[in-house]
Amino acid sequence: MTSPLTRRALIAALPAAAVASGCKGHAQAPVQTAPVPPLKAVAQFPVGTCISTGKLGDPALVGLVLRNVTQVTAEWEMKMEAILRDDGGFDFTRPDAIAAFAGQHGLRLHAHTLVWYAQKAPAFQRIDGNKPALTGAYRNYIQAVAGRYRGRAVSWDVVNEAVKDDGDGYRECLWSRNLGIDYIPDAFHLARAADDQALLFLNDYNLESNPKKRRTFLHLAEALLKSGAPLQGLGTQTHLDINLQPGMVTTAMRDLASLGLPIHVSELDVSTRVRGLDLSSPQERADRQARLVHEVVEAFMSLPPQQRFAITTWGLRDSDSWLQLAPNPPGVDLPLLFDKAGRPKEAAAAFVAAATGR
Ligand code: XIL
Repeated sequence: MTSPLTRRALIAALPAAAVASGCKGHAQAPVQTAPVPPLKAVAQFPVGTCISTGKLGDPALVGLVLRNVTQVTAEWEMKMEAILRDDGGFDFTRPDAIAAFAGQHGLRLHAHTLVWYAQKAPAFQRIDGNKPALTGAYRNYIQAVAGRYRGRAVSWDVVNEAVKDDGDGYRECLWSRNLGIDYIPDAFHLARAADDQALLFLNDYNLESNPKKRRTFLHLAEALLKSGAPLQGLGTQTHLDINLQPGMVTTAMRDLASLGLPIHVSELDVSTRVRGLDLSSPQERADRQARLVHEVVEAFMSLPPQQRFAITTWGLRDSDSWLQLAPNPPGVDLPLLFDKAGRPKEAAAAFVAAATGR
């Protein structure tokens, strides 16, 4: 059983320079740790992050990516919104650029995502209710996109966020309305037919904080496996916040691993924004974030090696996070392992500490 990392244990794990400069109780920017080794150098599993073509023009970010990770996920440019034109045609410019970057730098490419309820592509919206047309377009889209990256994408999030937020069943969406719940296994079979190499994942979020949702997610995974659908991995997005109680990540990881499939911590970030009255100091928020990152990595390290697909953070620098986007106030949340200048935070030191068994 993993005992929650105490502040004292965490500080013991930090480089001395980081501790010396920390002044508890003073409202100040969280302690910046001394340089940490490249995450990919100390991890006994692939380390990934999300990228987008717009950020690849920033040499500082590209340098941080190449120093720390061996895998990338397209943050949004391998989604329907980036590929499917309103006239129903395909534009692969953006996803091809992501795949080219990965190939150019010898990075594994985790493709995200073929089917997601949140994508309201006009070309599909237009045929909502026309089951024959939508069935054909669905098949055509998955075959074309999964087929295009065969041999270049090591894996796919085939279906993203299929479970209702409250965990009470599965989301009603364009796909379920027209194709029934079979849209889920159908997507896996179609992806497998188009790409016989990529590992095919089911991906979802709040699986740590919501045990009921986690049970429904696992029930879906088991049903897919029993039906013969080529499900080969489970993605837990792991978008956490610092209020999550110690131990919940560990319990969730154990449950998710119970099916024996590879586990992808697919979109790790730890929001430091506390809703409502927040009396904590920046330092305390940084400590709580680091403790949770340590728990994620420690729980992941407790998996058998063959189940450690990757840990992917949803960005590297706080300033690159999706949590800076509207409606969130920019610059308030500090959810990632590196600060806006690319300097490692306590969370980065905690990642390294847990990855090296400290
Ligand atoms: C987010 C991206 O980070 C944003 O840039 C985009 O505008 C919206 O999507 N869960 C997912 C991801 O599976 O695809 C989402 O990514 C974040 C939540």
